[in-house]
Amino acid sequence: TPIPPIKNEAVKNFSKNDQLDWDLLKASLIKFTDNGALDIPLVINGERIYGKGTSREINAQTNPAKLSQELATVTQATESDIQAAIAAAKEAKINWVKTPFADRAAIFLKAADLITNKYRYDVLAATMLGQGKNVYQAEIDSITELSDFFRFNVKYAKELYEVQPTESTTGVWNRAEYRPLEGFVYAVTPFNFTAIAANLIGAPALMGNTVVWKPSKYAALSNYLIYTILEEAGLPKGVINFVPGEPNMVTDTVLKDYEFAALHFTGSTKVFKGLYKKISDNIVLDTYRDFPRVVGETGGKNFHVIHPSAPLLHSALSTLRGAFEYQGQKCSATSIAFVPRSIWDDFKTIISESLATIQPTNTSSVDGLSGFSGPVIHEASFNKITAAIEQAKVDPELTIVTGGKYDKSLGLFIEPTIVETSNPDHEFLKTEFFGPLLTVSVYDDVDFEKVLEKVNVNSQYGLTGSIFAKDRDAIRLAEEKLRYAAGNFYINDKSTGAVVAQQWFGGARASGTNDKAGSGNLLSRFVSVRNIKENF
Ligand code: SER
Repeated sequence: TPIPPIKNEAVKNFSKNDQLDWDLLKASLIKFTDNGALDIPLVINGERIYGKGTSREINAQTNPAKLSQELATVTQATESDIQAAIAAAKEAKINWVKTPFADRAAIFLKAADLITNKYRYDVLAATMLGQGKNVYQAEIDSITELSDFFRFNVKYAKELYEVQPTESTTGVWNRAEYRPLEGFVYAVTPFNFTAIAANLIGAPALMGNTVVWKPSKYAALSNYLIYTILEEAGLPKGVINFVPGEPNMVTDTVLKDYEFAALHFTGSTKVFKGLYKKISDNIVLDTYRDFPRVVGETGGKNFHVIHPSAPLLHSALSTLRGAFEYQGQKCSATSIAFVPRSIWDDFKTIISESLATIQPTNTSSVDGLSGFSGPVIHEASFNKITAAIEQAKVDPELTIVTGGKYDKSLGLFIEPTIVETSNPDHEFLKTEFFGPLLTVSVYDDVDFEKVLEKVNVNSQYGLTGSIFAKDRDAIRLAEEKLRYAAGNFYINDKSTGAVVAQQWFGGARASGTNDKAGSGNLLSRFVSVRNIKENF
């Protein structure tokens, strides 16, 4: 099947008014804030089930930048709803597997077009308000990364289907058939990227699978919108079933099913390990027909190593962006930096002076649209990060270099905070905080190689990391020593901002199964190959 040419969606430059229609954005923001909380239903087999008037629980999704603002009331699935969603996924599979690739592809291509055109401002507004993003962060997530996933998945799927690596001989035709998995896929999706949630459901569905989707309760608004857009694009009922609910109950119900075929997950290492164990236990108990595919992207403790030869201004500002854009809540956020003593004072000054110009932004207000620093996602996260800040104030091995203030009277705001540690093995260099807290270890310039070794040994994670240097020997050494410390390794760039199809995203070690979002590798996890030999 020929497909249209696929390229990355251009990021709109919001410093130029001609590229952004502020009036449309304001209208979308107002739509979600001034009409009361949106009622979000479950969608099972294409049918909407509203919790109001039933015994189902209802969760509120609030704006983390303005806690008094309720954005949505989210119907919570019961155990029998989850069973109905599983049944719907099985039923929808019968026709979905027979649906030609061109038709499946068209749905995702059309959804990408709807997102980048007709619904651009609604998707931006839902992501900004619900997940605490400024407009630029919402753009590079919910518009460009999301539509890139949908479109490039189509390109990679086509390439995969066309590859026939099997040799044929005279009188024999051998062929590979890329079957969807037998059973259904369970997608557990995170709050921090609307795009990631969309890819976790979209990639398996494109390959002919059907999905039970448990969205994050902190992203229900944008996620439900994506579901409705897929529906408008022609997604048949039951192919994706949208079932927010209490995580343990949903998971336990899904994982008991004989036809559970794959987990597609992004979230914390701890939750992923728990899911992995439950699945393994069920394998021991012979619960499943298959050995389920387990695909997950989890935590990180992403590093910047600055070499004495590094371009100073660039490495300092890149560190600021990597650590504090979206308040350090990207899976790829820079969380530790190793800075040589010879440049530390200047490095620190550049970052502190730049941070001083950044004000917390209320992403619920139109005035704050293009501000830099928004809220953290929820109270538990706020408490974890602020407890670390309080520890930094009293721990003799830690010094607060800049920031350290926080305030939740309106929204969950924490100042971008840098903590310096005198102990190169301090727990702050190993613990994931998932917020605007960067820990710096200052090293003697001669110890560069020792630092690389330490970063490698100390990192139980392996997601992203960067080396900043002009010196080629230093770059080569870092590449070699940090081979497994990052699945996405950057030379003279920040640890965040992987672009679909340009930098395949994912890491190994405790950061996940490294199946690389935005690549064909990921899609191949959601097919099961049958080899066919035919004699002539
Ligand atoms: N593209 C994001 C990043 O690398 C992750 O999805 O920051």
